[in-house]
Amino acid sequence: MSRRSIVILNPKGGCGKSTLATNIAAYFALQGKRVALADCDPQYSSRDWLALRPDAAPTIMSATITAGKIRTPGPVDVIVIDTPAAAHGHRLANFARLGQTLIIPMMPSPIDMRAAEHFIDELYSLRKLINKKVKLATVANRVREDTVAAAKLDYFLDRSKTPGGKKLPFITVLRNSQNYIKAAERGLSIFEFAPSKTLYDREQWQPLVRWLSSSRSMPD
Ligand SMILES: Nc1ncnc2c1ncn2[C@@H]1O[C@H](COP(=O)(O)OP(=O)(O)OP(=O)(O)O)[C@@H](O)[C@H]1O
Ligand SMILES: [Mg+2]
Repeated sequence: MSRRSIVILNPKGGCGKSTLATNIAAYFALQGKRVALADCDPQYSSRDWLALRPDAAPTIMSATITAGKIRTPGPVDVIVIDTPAAAHGHRLANFARLGQTLIIPMMPSPIDMRAAEHFIDELYSLRKLINKKVKLATVANRVREDTVAAAKLDYFLDRSKTPGGKKLPFITVLRNSQNYIKAAERGLSIFEFAPSKTLYDREQWQPLVRWLSSSRSMPD
């Protein structure tokens, strides 16, 4: 496996960037991959999570990024990059440039969906500064099923297109679940809790981990 780089991006605060970054990192570590997690956010949610991680859990290295270069303490198979809220313009492009694969978590409220739409437009307007072949997809996060918000999300995702007119790949819906909060508090992922307690969440992750493990999420 050549080195995979996955960046989690969305300027909207609290949409689930750190939750996705930490769970993706732990997923690959559990698969036996050498994983590093880079936290570009001065709030250091991912770095704090790493500090809480029990010694017995599969190792995740801490990576740093200086002057656009990723530094890891040793060789890695997968690098996951968590980014801060409110990144725009060149700063946003600099983060996006670090990845082969960009994941955009979004929450299903109308305000968040509209913000995500603007963000995706911005990302495309910055394409000259980013690897054009980068693969981009959205993940709906904190979705409460059978709500008006979920229905609106369906509608949004159905009509959301890239400025080039292509349908934006949408990978999966992650429900609002205490499992994410409990995992975050303990430096763990949902994949490190009893399968019986996290069955539904694991199922919702399947499309995402399958996509990330396949060439479909890699630049052509
Ligand atoms: N699917 C979920 N179910 C329940 N809680 C969640 C879920 N996803 C995220 N959270 C919680 O919501 C809060 C915000 O999530 P998170 O920190 O991942 O967002 P973020 O995009 O990284 O925020 P910021 O922009 O501030 O960095 C956290 O307390 C997190 O535990
Ligand atoms: Mg965060």
